[in-house]
Amino acid sequence: MIDFGVMRASRAILFGPGQRLSLGRIAGQIGKRALVCTDTRFASTNDMTVLRASLDDQGMAVLVFDGTEAELPLTGILACLDVARSFKPSVVIGIGGGSCLDMAKVVALMLSYDGTVDSFYGENRVPGPVLPVIGMPTTSGTGSEVTPVAVLGDSNQTLKVGISSPYLIPHTAICDPELTLSCPPGLTALSGADAMAHAIESFTAVRRPREPGLTVDRVFVGKNGLSDRNALTAITALTTYLPRAVADGADLEARSAVMYAAMLAGLAFGSAGTGAAHAIQYPVGALTHTAHGLGVAALLRYVMAFNRPNCTATYAEVARAMGIAGTDQEELADAAVAAVSALFDDIGIPKTLADLGLKADQLAWVASQSLKATRLVTNNPRSLDLEGATSIVNAAFVGDWRGAHLSAAE
Ligand SMILES: NC(=O)c1ccc[n+]([C@@H]2O[C@H](COP(=O)([O-])OP(=O)(O)OC[C@H]3O[C@@H](n4cnc5c(N)ncnc54)[C@H](O)[C@@H]3O)[C@@H](O)[C@H]2O)c1
Ligand SMILES: [Fe+2]
Repeated sequence: MIDFGVMRASRAILFGPGQRLSLGRIAGQIGKRALVCTDTRFASTNDMTVLRASLDDQGMAVLVFDGTEAELPLTGILACLDVARSFKPSVVIGIGGGSCLDMAKVVALMLSYDGTVDSFYGENRVPGPVLPVIGMPTTSGTGSEVTPVAVLGDSNQTLKVGISSPYLIPHTAICDPELTLSCPPGLTALSGADAMAHAIESFTAVRRPREPGLTVDRVFVGKNGLSDRNALTAITALTTYLPRAVADGADLEARSAVMYAAMLAGLAFGSAGTGAAHAIQYPVGALTHTAHGLGVAALLRYVMAFNRPNCTATYAEVARAMGIAGTDQEELADAAVAAVSALFDDIGIPKTLADLGLKADQLAWVASQSLKATRLVTNNPRSLDLEGATSIVNAAFVGDWRGAHLSAAE
């Protein structure tokens, strides 16, 4: 039934409409000095006023940093640290999209240990526990409220960089779908598609030998039974409810289901890891300055088509999770790729990398750079070399996902 499983998670995950209102009492149990990392959009909302009051009511000292920028440039992290160091928070609260949550995680890390931010880039370089973080997402996508990774943009690095460590998992996640009611359709679609990519890429990740120490040596351990369950539940929920949330942003049932799915997909990829769609998004994002979710969403169907020869059984399960009936594994597997493609068309995801602004003469660079994300490349179910990456990128550029499907299975 299950021969191996890994679940790393927040100490508490609170889920449901209205749960944001418990913020003050939850934070007050953890510490008396709260640093809130958010952005100018959320800082100007009535929700922020109410949440701030809930912290004040607990007699807490509160500092709000509202300068978080999308895709999290390092300069913004340093600006936050400038004010946070003298404030000496005992709890760091991230409220916003993945950028604000990742800001809270990196700031909590930097306030806990000496060293420059770049000294923590990579996997397992955080020496121990960091200041407790409360993550409260306002998008349904990244799952950062429960994941062990923070992603940022450093102008000294060509591509965005990650800091991955189980110590970065937020202490408490508060997932209140009402906070996502204000997401416009485009943001709902691209962040939901990012969640779908997390679920599918973790469900189809490589299986690694179950050697003792695997879970100590690696943050992302590959496919495993515990993340599989969460990934499949997320895929089912997104199939039905993501189109509804995009079509009608006020549909709270759909908003709830999509936020639930994004959180579960975060739990899934937080131990299993993601794959080629995430690896190739890094250089695409660097060249086109498009959001993480948009690039991942635009790439997923092509990556699925490329991986298809190695994913008959797993894609058949994906198809069943998407509500597709049938008994022939090969047909079901093909149907999974087609269904994801149709779902993404339905919610308005760009069909090609050209739509994202990529140019034909940039394709070779994208393919070669994507191989640098070795933690993602080695997690992909079909081994990815320059030829493979090139075929995906070329197919994604012209919009021919069937063309990414190289003939021979490995
Ligand atoms: N740590 C992780 O596990 C993880 C996983 C995937 C992606 N990421 C990172 O997360 C970031 C992307 O996060 P994101 O997709 O959530 O977007 P985001 O945080 O970058 O925000 C994008 C925009 O959406 C706005 N926004 C956020 N919530 C809103 C709401 N409720 N209503 C209206 N506007 C709203 C923001 O103000 C911002 O302008 C990237 O930096 C990406 O690399 C992190
Ligand atoms: Fe992602």
